[in-house]
Amino acid sequence: MNDTQANIQQSVLQAQALHHNYQLGKTKIQVLNGIDLAVNPGDFIAITGPSGAGKSTLLHLLAGLDVPVQGDVLWQGKSLVTMNDAQRAAFRSHQIGIVFQFYHLVPELNALENVMLPGLVSGQGFSSALKDKANEALKAVGLADRVKHKPSALSGGELQRAAIARAIVNDPEVLLCDEPTGNLDSLNGEAIMDILLQLKESRNRSLVIVTHHDSIAQRAQQHVRLKDGCIVGG
Ligand SMILES: Nc1ncnc2c1ncn2[C@@H]1O[C@H](COP(=O)(O)OP(=O)(O)OP(=O)(O)O)[C@@H](O)[C@H]1O
Ligand SMILES: [Mg+2]
Repeated sequence: MNDTQANIQQSVLQAQALHHNYQLGKTKIQVLNGIDLAVNPGDFIAITGPSGAGKSTLLHLLAGLDVPVQGDVLWQGKSLVTMNDAQRAAFRSHQIGIVFQFYHLVPELNALENVMLPGLVSGQGFSSALKDKANEALKAVGLADRVKHKPSALSGGELQRAAIARAIVNDPEVLLCDEPTGNLDSLNGEAIMDILLQLKESRNRSLVIVTHHDSIAQRAQQHVRLKDGCIVGG
């Protein structure tokens, strides 16, 4: 077995020659131009690059939120492209945790309800076990005393933490975080990074973080630089 074959067999999530574009009226916006990326168990990968380079797009494709126009994403060797919507939704809710660039917390729900949402959506139904899991996740990110707060009553750092709690509540294999410290001062940013790394270490999960912060990229095992939809360094 050569190194490439060994790498393919280990990967939990793998991007293969990903191409993606958006159609805006008659204009085609080419965003990704052939991205290969392997995420192995316990990996910490940082993705950096200028605004508009395609970082969020790549994360969305890895999460199965969107389907590439060309190429594929493999989950433990299974193609996300050939899955139907229900299969991709099941993959997302069981295997992947996503922290979105702009949180996407539901304003009408409090922190606890927001964190319970993935469980409810994945068909677990309301149960005290789910509530316990959500409380545990909020405790893990230091928000035990803010469970009743709605997003409008949380600070920027607390919103980030609530979004992370929601991403980890189903104990996903891979955590995809889009600028999880983007709106925080350096102290709060460090605290969030410590939480994410502690979760990764304690559960041997994989962490993929899009960031503009060099200090975070330096802590990663692998640093992927995106420019004009291509990987220009790693
Ligand atoms: N739904 C869409 N329709 C049309 N164009 C889009 C859409 N989403 C993103 N784009 C364009 O695709 C390019 C890549 O966007 P993307 O959000 O992936 O960039 P990014 O690297 O995450 O940038 P940032 O650092 O600012 O978050 C941008 O030029 C953006 O304008
Ligand atoms: Mg982005």
